[in-house]
Amino acid sequence: MSSVTNLHAPKGLEGVVATTSSICYIDGDQGVLAYRGYDIHDLADHSTFEEVCHLLWFGHLPNTNELMVLSDRLAGERKLDSSIINLLRLAPKHALPMDVLRTVVSALSFYDPEFDRNDHDANVNKAIRLTSQLAMIVANYDRIRKGKPVVEPDRSLSHAANFLLMLNGTAPSKTAERALDIALILHADHELNASTFAARITAATLSDMHSAVTSAIGTLKGPLHGGANEAVFKILQEIAAMNVDPLEFVKGMLAEKKKIPGFGHRVYHTEDPRATHLRQMSRDLGRSSNDPKWFDYSQKIETFIKTDKKLNANVDFYSASTYHVLGIEVDLFTPIFAVSRVSGWTAHVIEQLDDNRLIRPRADYIGPVYPQKYVAIEKR
Ligand SMILES: CC(C)(COP(=O)(O)OP(=O)(O)OC[C@H]1O[C@@H](n2cnc3c(N)ncnc32)[C@H](O)[C@@H]1OP(=O)(O)O)[C@@H](O)C(=O)NCCC(=O)NCCS
Repeated sequence: MSSVTNLHAPKGLEGVVATTSSICYIDGDQGVLAYRGYDIHDLADHSTFEEVCHLLWFGHLPNTNELMVLSDRLAGERKLDSSIINLLRLAPKHALPMDVLRTVVSALSFYDPEFDRNDHDANVNKAIRLTSQLAMIVANYDRIRKGKPVVEPDRSLSHAANFLLMLNGTAPSKTAERALDIALILHADHELNASTFAARITAATLSDMHSAVTSAIGTLKGPLHGGANEAVFKILQEIAAMNVDPLEFVKGMLAEKKKIPGFGHRVYHTEDPRATHLRQMSRDLGRSSNDPKWFDYSQKIETFIKTDKKLNANVDFYSASTYHVLGIEVDLFTPIFAVSRVSGWTAHVIEQLDDNRLIRPRADYIGPVYPQKYVAIEKR
């Protein structure tokens, strides 16, 4: 291929296939999402986050013994160096949990027992370690910023239950545990989304797992990606605070040419299959906790946007009201996305490095014509 390119890139790389992968299958026309061939609906209905982690990292659903081994390993890695806890205490109280997570995950590499290894086995160990540690960082930071003592994890509890225990100080109800578990399953992987692509690009330079996950967290933060779930709830809060009709509120946003967070998707042209589960969870949890307002607002907005703009709700729309009813603070919504997606990011880094080549595309140059005549500074 010529080293001077005259190819034109579709804006935002829409439709461009950038790699092969065996991890995640999406059919955006049929609304299909599958991890290693397993439909997301089956996984959400029958599986657990730990099973899904095994599926993503090891390529198959675990048998009973394999699941026990992985659960034990995740439990064994639920520990943070005291320097990491100190770093959390040093963060200014106004620091956003997503920013704290990004910075602290980067610092985790200092204390990783395999910091100087980048081989397959070391990266599987790091995937397990990071998955346990990310959940601890998010929960511990929330308690530290509120002046509460950090809560020790409980080996007998699942990943989802441990997160809620470390966050709230009490073991969750079975309903809350299962709701979070399903949310973690639904968010675990999504093919070459922006943060996963960032992770793979970083890994492909033969950098390291912690750098790749740090890149991914920074990428997830944006409101066009994972940050949308926080943006959705801020709108619902504004509607409640102003006591206005949700439809009038979003019509006002559209009149100002603003995008409505939680709607639209680059790949799905039909219902995002993850939204199907989150809608139901938002409704059921809202009703059972006598706080149906958020679901009701959301549903009104969804019906209107679907009819008026032909846009479907995405994963972030109903996760906002679901997390709120679970008692989770708004600025933890995107960090919780990372608590789940770290499983997918790490699986992709492992896959990238198993058959690596530097990822280095080209830009379609549209600047001043070459060659420009160089003019000495005193003559410009
Ligand atoms: C997800 C998203 C970034 C995909 O972006 P994309 O594939 O680049 O699509 P575009 O932004 O080019 O949108 C295409 C058209 O739909 C409109 N549109 C897309 N999402 C919209 C939204 N949430 N609200 C209102 N209009 C929207 C755009 O304004 C554009 O209209 P136009 O052609 O008249 O200019 C985009 O839908 C969005 O910004 N959604 C809100 C943020 C969000 O929920 N992100 C989480 C994704 S899981």
